[in-house]
Amino acid sequence: MKKILVLHGPNLNMLGIREPGVYGTTSLPDIERNLQQLAGRLSVELECFQSNHEGELIDRIHQAYGVMDGILINPGAFTHYSYAIRDAISSVKLPVVEVHLSNIHQREAFRHVSVTAPVSVGQITGFGEYSYELGLMALHRHLTKEVR
Ligand code: DQA
Repeated sequence: MKKILVLHGPNLNMLGIREPGVYGTTSLPDIERNLQQLAGRLSVELECFQSNHEGELIDRIHQAYGVMDGILINPGAFTHYSYAIRDAISSVKLPVVEVHLSNIHQREAFRHVSVTAPVSVGQITGFGEYSYELGLMALHRHLTKEVR
């Protein structure tokens, strides 16, 4: 069974409360519950972790080396400037899919840049909570089939 690490960056613990017009009203536990249901249907094992601290996210990426098969990550604002998270992803050489609830390209200019996308398999952005499910399906397919 494939094992996937799901990482959520800063402020995503506030989903449901935080800017609902941008991020929706679904809480992080609800998003994770839906993801676990999808994981069951895909027969993959998920381990989920949220942190507001860059170093904790980096530690979890390192710990995934040799243990997990891939990483689904919403790095939050770290997306736009964390070279350290980018380097951590490159270090472990695991396939990563980056997801965002909002469409980062429709928003402020500083959100248009992702420093983590170039070291990821791909990026899914703008589908609200469904971005996570799309991301998990994409990563599962990447892990189980040749990418065409
Ligand atoms: C986000 C987009 C980021 O720009 C922002 O800092 C977040 C959430 C998203 O899921 O839309 O924290 O990653």
